[in-house]
This record gives sequence, structure tokens and C-alpha cells, in this order.
Amino acid sequence: MAAKFITLEGMDGAGKSTHIPNIIQMLTARGVEVVSTREPGGTLLGEKLRALLLHESMHPETETLLMFAARREHIAQVIAPALARGAYVLSDRFTDATYAYQAGAKGVEADKVVQLEHWVQAGLQPDITLLFDVPVEVSVARLSSAREPDKFERESAEFFAKIRAAYLLRARENPDRFKVIDANQPLAEVYKAVEAVIAAL
Ligand code: TMP
Repeated sequence: MAAKFITLEGMDGAGKSTHIPNIIQMLTARGVEVVSTREPGGTLLGEKLRALLLHESMHPETETLLMFAARREHIAQVIAPALARGAYVLSDRFTDATYAYQAGAKGVEADKVVQLEHWVQAGLQPDITLLFDVPVEVSVARLSSAREPDKFERESAEFFAKIRAAYLLRARENPDRFKVIDANQPLAEVYKAVEAVIAAL
């Protein structure tokens, strides 16, 4: 089976990470190698950058550049080699998150993200992106009952509304790649929707 690059996206509190073990299990059952990874992070350097990104305040463009620095390393060390040997790569977030958070919510010009994307990814794009979509109130309510929030999770409902709108715009602009999952349903229903997407791969 040919290599595939699958990404998971959504606002904080949308519940995407809960589904990772199930997705890994479904893919592994097909006999393919699955490399499960995340952004920001995925490499030793990337995880160090993640700690800075999630806890230090910085200019939104600095944040964008560090996201892409971590991404460059992630592609070189993890994603490209895995795809080259025919593995499936499952990444908890990728560049759509930069469009949603840094461009959509923090006002970085989308054109600058486009330029970095071309430079760093050189044409590499996910084959499928599962967007876990929930109304802003649901995300905010889930976060307020969660563990100690990081820098992003402490943002306002208005900030999350911009993220959601930016993600849904990305989905409309890339209809072949995006699968929007209604994550505001009982977990079993969300799981079924995820299963249907993976089964159709
Ligand atoms: P996580 O909580 O899903 O692990 O993601 C960490 C945070 O990083 C999350 O709040 C979204 C944010 N983020 C960006 O702002 N831009 C990006 O490009 C990526 C990959 C994540």
C-alpha cells in the first residue's frame, strides 16, 4: 500500500488527540507501518521549540518562524524518511494550524505563511486532513475543565472563533484533502465518522 500523510486538526478542546490510538490501530490492522507524531514537536529539537512556543510570549511572526523551523526539522528527520519507506504518517497538527492560529487568529499575513510553506515543504502536502470541528462554546467549556492551560489554551472565545473560521475556510478551499468531522457528538459517533474516513483511504 502506498505511503500516506494524514494530519489531524482542530481547535484546542475539539478532542482530536483522543482518536489517535484508534486510528493507529485501524491502520496497523491493515499491515502498514504507522508513524505517529505531532507538531509543534516530533523531533528532539522540535520538542524543545514546542516548550518555548507553548509557554513563552513572542511576536506572532516569531511564532510562525519557529513553527516552520520545527516543521523543517520534522519533515527532514521524520516525515520524509517515513513516507519514502512506504509508511503512513499520522501527525497531530501540521501547517493548517499555522494558517488557523498565526494567520487566522493572530493576524500574520497569510501570504507570509504561503511563502514559508513553499520553502519548507517544497510541495509536500497531507493526503488527508481530518478537521475535528466543534462550536467555540464547546471548546472553551472543555478547556476550562481540563488540566493547567498552556499559552494558546488561555486565549479568549473571540480568538477561538477566528481559529474555527480559519480552519473551516481552509476546508472549503481544499475540499479534496479535508474531511470535516462533527466532533460535537457522543464519542462513539465521532469515532464512527473517523472510522469511515480511514476506511475510505
Ligand atoms: P496541541 O495542544 O494540539 O498539541 O497543539 C499545541 C498548540 O500549538 C495548539 O494550541 C495549537 C498551536 N499551534 C499553532 O499555533 N500553530 C501551529 O502551526 C501548530 C502546529 C500548533
